[in-house]
This record gives sequence, structure tokens and C-alpha cells, in this order.
Amino acid sequence: MRSFADAEVSVRITVFLGAPGSGKGTQAKLLSQSDRFVHLSTGDILRNAIKEGTPLGREAKTFMDKGELVPDATMIGLIKDTLSKLKPDQHVILDGFPRTVAQAEALNSNTATQVEHALLFEIVDSLLIDRLTGRRVCKQCGQPFHMKHIRPKKEGICDLCNGEVIQRSDDHEDVVKRRLEIFHSQNKGLVDYYSDKHKLKRINVDQPADSVQKILMELLK
Ligand code: AP5
Repeated sequence: MRSFADAEVSVRITVFLGAPGSGKGTQAKLLSQSDRFVHLSTGDILRNAIKEGTPLGREAKTFMDKGELVPDATMIGLIKDTLSKLKPDQHVILDGFPRTVAQAEALNSNTATQVEHALLFEIVDSLLIDRLTGRRVCKQCGQPFHMKHIRPKKEGICDLCNGEVIQRSDDHEDVVKRRLEIFHSQNKGLVDYYSDKHKLKRINVDQPADSVQKILMELLK
């Protein structure tokens, strides 16, 4: 298993944990509008790799299309490379990593990064199905919208970059259900891992996105 031991940067990390559709990407993108935070989403990195047709993208697609996790060795190598390119002393919001205890241990073994908080986004599954099947995303910048709750100002056009707003291929109901199953099979291990380190904080995300944002700003002050 690869570790981060040879990464060369000093980076503060806040990890976002939570089910698919719990709002991790929405909140991380809002936070990264201020200069204080850098948003790193493993899902976005993988989707870009798929778009560009790289070997990583070809490997990831076979797992993502079925709602399965990409293997740990691939993800750990990817995050190690990505973190090593950051400037020292940045505060990174890590969205989508770690997803397994093996990934959390690899992140912890890197002496050049420090996980300060692990924030668990909590919400019941029945609401997540609606959030995910109703989600639309910008093809260009990845900004998430929702057909009912958070609509783009102009139909089908991204508010931020004017890109085309589309449905993600893994947001169809059968794949969403599989993603939720996988999430529940891994989440307890991660929750225990960060609880034992006194880094876990739980956030009720069954409330409007701007209310969740206020809670996060307060926690990360
Ligand atoms: P990834 O892209 O990380 O997907 P995910 O974790 O399944 O999370 P989502 O992006 O689906 O949800 P989110 O919590 O960001 O919600 P969002 O803000 O968009 O990963 C995709 C795949 O890549 C994985 O399945 C796996 O195959 C692979 N992968 C990635 N990382 C990996 C790793 N570390 N190891 C192995 N494999 C990995 O919000 C959802 C919707 O709700 C939106 O429409 C939004 O507008 C709406 N919404 C948000 N907040 C609210 C609110 N408060 N009220 C109402 N609606 C809201």
C-alpha cells in the first residue's frame, strides 16, 4: 500500500465525511469562494480524468459507473500526488477522501499534512435519493444544482461559468442505491477512526444550504 510519507508540503486539512448527496461538494465550493480554503474533490478529479481519457480515467470509469469505490491503492497515489502540488500552509477541504479506513490511515501517515477536523454531514437516506436523482451539475466547472431546491438562474446554464448543466451518469436511481450501500458499509469505520482521534464533529445537514454554510464557517473560524 502506498503512503504519503514522502509528500513535501505542509497542509492543514478539513475532511468532509458523509453520504453521497449530503451536500459536501456544495458546501466545499461555497467555502472555496473565500481565499481561505482550497477545495479538493476526488470525485471531480476522477471525472476530469474520465473526460480527458487518461489511464486513471479509464480505470475509474469502470468503478464509478457501477457506484463502486475506486481501489485504495489508486486513490492514495492520486491524493499523494495532488497534495504534493499544493503550496505550504494552505487549508484544504478534502471532499470525498478518505472513504475507507485504509485511506484515512494513509492520510494520517503523511507527516506533511495535518487533519484538523473530520466533519460528518448527517441526513437520512430517504432525502438523499431525492437530492441525487434531482441533482444537475455544470459539465464545465462541476457546480451542483438541484431541479427543485437549487435551480440555476437560467435553465440549463451554470450561474458561475455559463457551462452546460447536465445529469451525472451515476445519479440514476439504481446506481444511487448502490453508492448509498457502499457508503454505509464504510462509514462506521471512518467515524470510529476520527472519533478515537477526537477530530469528529457531526453536522445536521437536513436544513437549507446557507444554514449549513453558517455552521461550517463558525466551526472553521
Ligand atoms: P463523489 O463525486 O465524491 O460523489 P459522492 O461522495 O457520492 O458525493 P456526491 O458528489 O454525490 O454528493 P455531495 O455530498 O457532494 O452532494 P452535493 O453537494 O453535490 O464520488 C463519485 C465516485 O467517485 C464514487 O462513487 C467513487 O466511485 C469514486 N470516488 C471518489 N472518491 C473516492 C475515494 N476516495 N475512494 C474510492 N472511490 C472514490 O449535493 C447533492 C444535491 O443536493 C445537489 O443537487 C445539491 O444542489 C443539493 N443540495 C445540497 N445541499 C442541499 C441542502 N442543504 N438542501 C437541499 N438540497 C441541497
